[in-house]
Amino acid sequence: MESRELERRPCGASGLDISVLGVGCWAFGGKEGDYWGAQDDNDARSLIAACLERGVTYLDVAEAYNDGRSEEALGRILEGRRGEAIIGTKIGPQFCTPSLIREHCEASLRRLRTDYIDIYMVHWPIREHSVPEAFETLKQLRDEGKIRVIGVSNFGVRDLTEAADLVPGIGINQLHYNLLSRGLEAEILPLCRKRNIGVMTYMSLLQGILTGKWKTIDEIPPVRTRTRHFRGDRPDSRHGGPGAEEEVIAALDGIRAIATELGVEMGQLALGWLAAQPGVTCVLAGARNVAQLESNIQGVTLKLSDDVLARLDATTRPVFDKLGSDADYWQSGSNSRIR
Ligand SMILES: NC(=O)c1ccc[n+]([C@@H]2O[C@H](COP(=O)([O-])OP(=O)(O)OC[C@H]3O[C@@H](n4cnc5c(N)ncnc54)[C@H](OP(=O)(O)O)[C@@H]3O)[C@@H](O)[C@H]2O)c1
Repeated sequence: MESRELERRPCGASGLDISVLGVGCWAFGGKEGDYWGAQDDNDARSLIAACLERGVTYLDVAEAYNDGRSEEALGRILEGRRGEAIIGTKIGPQFCTPSLIREHCEASLRRLRTDYIDIYMVHWPIREHSVPEAFETLKQLRDEGKIRVIGVSNFGVRDLTEAADLVPGIGINQLHYNLLSRGLEAEILPLCRKRNIGVMTYMSLLQGILTGKWKTIDEIPPVRTRTRHFRGDRPDSRHGGPGAEEEVIAALDGIRAIATELGVEMGQLALGWLAAQPGVTCVLAGARNVAQLESNIQGVTLKLSDDVLARLDATTRPVFDKLGSDADYWQSGSNSRIR
């Protein structure tokens, strides 16, 4: 299978280029009972060392991850190597008043042991506070050099249009996107392309499901079957819908067959497909260890032919048709948070 160099791609018109593969560091600083469970600092340290060595420089956290411990762990690990990494972190929308934004940004800077954040994202759309005031404050922080690029996450057409009209140069919209979650292709991705805002994908492997490591849906850890792909009566699910389990199984079988034919892993094919989508700046994937990182690098650097891309489109289209264009995969209809 042909592959290409690990590219750097522009974050829209912001002037910042980042690696096409980014590593999600949500698990960092985690202990038993946290979303991703316990994560040893030494494993995280080896992972980051390998990332920097291999040119995977974009590292993603949020103030909310493990109550700030993900940012703290990343800060500890990057001490002395800060300049080699591009750090993205996020503020919760409930804190988006001018004074709280400043306070929360300072707190993230302290936890990350740095004096600038490369990409500072609003984690979800702002519903409770003034959007113009929030973006004005972010612009001031950018002018002051505390953040280099303003980003957003989970912003749909309405919210993104409003934000982009308020502040030129928004660099990134971080969104749930993968072969089985293609809702954003209907409107959000075209809008990002039109407004020159880079898309950074999360759930790129659908929390590992696209690697094919589980043979049946019942084997998947319940915390990973809460999305609209799965029946709404599964544990901790909150969407209440029917799911698309038959279509998901058929699509996974289809992806596996193409991967086998090409001699690559399913997860690599899923990441290669994402990296080939026009408008995608960065494919974010969580990685537990260096072996997963190496595999994911091979994935994003695959050179997939138009024929393979078309077959992947066809094999996953029934899931897209069933789940529709709503890009919120945990809630839907009038409860959807993405507008
Ligand atoms: N903006 C947002 O609202 C938002 C929401 C969620 C996540 N995120 C970001 O996205 C990052 C990634 O999280 P995600 O939820 O999107 O998960 P994901 O990247 O779809 O899946 C990550 C998980 O897949 C498994 N995996 C990764 N590479 C693999 C490989 N090569 N082979 C086998 N398994 C592999 C690992 O889990 P196991 O080994 O445990 O199976 C890993 O923890 C987070 O760290 C966070 O930075 C952002």
